[in-house]
Amino acid sequence: MSFLSIKDIHHTYFTKSSATTALTNINLQVKEGEFVSFLGPSGCGKTTLLSIIAGLIKPTQGSILLENKPVRKEENQIGYMLQQDYLFPWKTIEENILLGLKLTKNLNHDTKTAALNLLKQIGLNGVEKHLPRQLSGGMRQRVALVRTLATEPKLLMLDEPFSALDYQTKLKLEDLVSKTLDEFGKTAILVTHDIGEAIAMSDRVILFSPSPGKIHKIFEMPQELRNLSPFTARNHETFSAIFQTIWKELESLEASKE
Ligand SMILES: Nc1ncnc2c1ncn2[C@@H]1O[C@H](COP(=O)(O)OP(=O)(O)OP(=O)(O)O)[C@@H](O)[C@H]1O
Ligand SMILES: [Mg+2]
Repeated sequence: MSFLSIKDIHHTYFTKSSATTALTNINLQVKEGEFVSFLGPSGCGKTTLLSIIAGLIKPTQGSILLENKPVRKEENQIGYMLQQDYLFPWKTIEENILLGLKLTKNLNHDTKTAALNLLKQIGLNGVEKHLPRQLSGGMRQRVALVRTLATEPKLLMLDEPFSALDYQTKLKLEDLVSKTLDEFGKTAILVTHDIGEAIAMSDRVILFSPSPGKIHKIFEMPQELRNLSPFTARNHETFSAIFQTIWKELESLEASKE
């Protein structure tokens, strides 16, 4: 039994005057505790697939099973972290991180303490009563991560969560997110345009090709890289060869478009 099973997904967006097939023939199994990345040119359906997995869009065809059952949106089985942190500007950091718990009626003394502890663990001490605008972009993304983890989702989906950050902050957050997810044994899917980030963070990199979006190739990362933190992995001797391989594959996809 696999943890997440993506079966024969096909999706077409219909508007009054047109039909765009965003995804076709998507089949993928993800193991519990696995970290996979979706990589591929713009428009190849990565965000669409995340929305389908999260149950936000019903696919034209196919099914998604999480632990052998259809995903139930209302049960908060899936946590979503986006490029923009989407913190409520008028709510304090504490109110922001407890929001998911409140909405799902899971806010109690224990869950509150756990969320506030996680905030400390992630290096944010004494910001509970601050407003989001008093924090830097990297700090806000850390708050967003705490908010996402607070409801203890079974699966985490990260749609370019580091792309709006400066390079140094991004590298630090990659390590922090990777460490935190490992500690909690979380299964995660990351969408990124950054080949290095995909290699450094993942167990597998799924490369998509466009028009319509499909899985082009799957790259398994070698064990020696998986055991390292993303920052150390970027400096490992096998890193650049893998980077070159995926880079060439992406280039060939771009070239075939022209
Ligand atoms: N709501 C929508 N209505 C109609 N077409 C859509 C809609 N959302 C996405 N599309 C189309 O579906 C295709 C896939 O879009 P999607 O946003 O999933 O791609 P992506 O891989 O996430 O791209 P990017 O890397 O730019 O974020 C594109 O051709 C896009 O124009
Ligand atoms: Mg997208």
